This record gives sequence, structure tokens and C-alpha cells, in this order.
Amino acid sequence: MSDRKPMMAGNWKMHHTHLEAIQVVQKLGFRLESKDFDRVDVVICPAFTALRSVQTTIDGDRLAIGLGAQDCHWEKQGAFTGEVSPLMLAKLNVKYVIVGHSERREMFGETDEIVAKKLRAVLGAGMTPIICVGETLDEREHGTTEEKVKGQIEAAFQRLPAEEAARCIVAYEPIWAIGTGHNATPDDANETIGVIRRHVRVGLGDALADGLRILYGGSVKPGNVAALMAMPEIDGGLVGGASLDPDEFARVVQFGAR
Ligand code: PGA
Repeated sequence: MSDRKPMMAGNWKMHHTHLEAIQVVQKLGFRLESKDFDRVDVVICPAFTALRSVQTTIDGDRLAIGLGAQDCHWEKQGAFTGEVSPLMLAKLNVKYVIVGHSERREMFGETDEIVAKKLRAVLGAGMTPIICVGETLDEREHGTTEEKVKGQIEAAFQRLPAEEAARCIVAYEPIWAIGTGHNATPDDANETIGVIRRHVRVGLGDALADGLRILYGGSVKPGNVAALMAMPEIDGGLVGGASLDPDEFARVVQFGAR
């Protein structure tokens, strides 16, 4: 058993208006008890339009929920129509930013270079990046999973000072498991996360690798979370669909507790 505190981060993607978001967070607050927050770091990543409402709800109800964003630009400001800067997010009390989610890589052309720039910008603004890596079904079937995730990790961490790398969180999300209802088996997820941790160990040393939280994402739900969390390498979940409903997400957060 490691002493890394588990984290459950809800990635709402393009769901929930700001009004719906307030209700979901309030209900989540009713469902969770202080002992849940003691055991697990709980994070919600709503759409940009709901960040402010979620932040005031968290503050108003004194909830120990961390606020996260799903993406950001790498510049502080400028002529980037439609973009949101890390500085703007930090001012809203955003603590976490998902970077390099496979949906952004696949649908919005985010390369490893862009992901690396965003990662540095998020760290520079004092927030914690949640860096997503993972293989496609094709890559898994061709046996190149290890190579893919190692490459993504290397590109993200390249020339990053160790004290900055130590502030990052990684999410291993096999693309074929996202939104499909078919999660990776706990053994497979544990194995690939072990590969990532060993790779970080080689590059950045024992202390950093032992302290780095690596989440699993891809169809995490109340019915499979306990088995995933029983694995020694898995430090939490990046949860999409099952985080939209407060009861379901509360059951994910309370994994193994009852
Ligand atoms: P899912 O999404 O839980 O709906 O599979 C996870 C994610 O994309 O972060």
C-alpha cells in the first residue's frame, strides 16, 4: 500500500450548464462526508462556463472539492480567439487542469508538443496538470501500448525540472475504454501504470516516481472502481460518464468504503 492519497477527478466534458452544475455539486456535497474527503481528493472539472458557479458553490458550502478545468491555452493572454488562459483559470481558484486528453489530441489536433507547452503553462500559473496518456485499440492490438505511453510521458516531462514534474498528476486512459462501458481489466491497467511509473523512475528517480499519482480513466464506475483501486499502482480515477450524476460519482468516491 503506497502513501499516495487517492484522487477521484470528474471530467464532465461538454455536459452540464452552469445551473445544472450547481445542483450536481450541491447534491454531491450532501452525499459525501468529511471522512470521504479525508480518504480521497475529490476534483470536479466542469465546462469553462460553469467554473465560476461551481467555484462559488464549493466556497459557499465549504466543500473540500478541488476545482479543475478541462483544457487551457499556453499563453497568458493575447489574440487567441476562443481560448482561455491558465492565468484566467488560476484567478478563478482553479487548482487542476486536464492536459492532453485523448479527445483533444484526436479531435482538436493536439500534439505532444502542444501538450508539453500547456503542461508548463499550467505549472507556471501555480496549478496542477493532469496529463493524459493512452493507446488506441489498434496500438493495443499491435502490442505497442508500452511504446506509446512511454513516448507521451517522455514528451510531456522532457527537460522539466524535477520539482515541477513532482507537481504533476498523470492519467492513463486507454482510448478504447473511454465512454465505451468497457474498462481495462484491473490487471491490465495496473500493468501499464507500472510501466509508466518505472519509466518515470528511470528518468527522474525513486522519490519522484514513488510520489507521483497516476490515475486510471476509461469507464470507471461504481461497479468496477473497488477492483481497480485494489491494484497497487492505481492511485485514483479520471471519471467521465459516471461523474455526471452526483449519486453515482459519490459511490465512485466512496469506493470500498461500504
Ligand atoms: P469515461 O471517460 O469515464 O466516460 O469513460 C473518461 C475520460 O475520458 O476522462
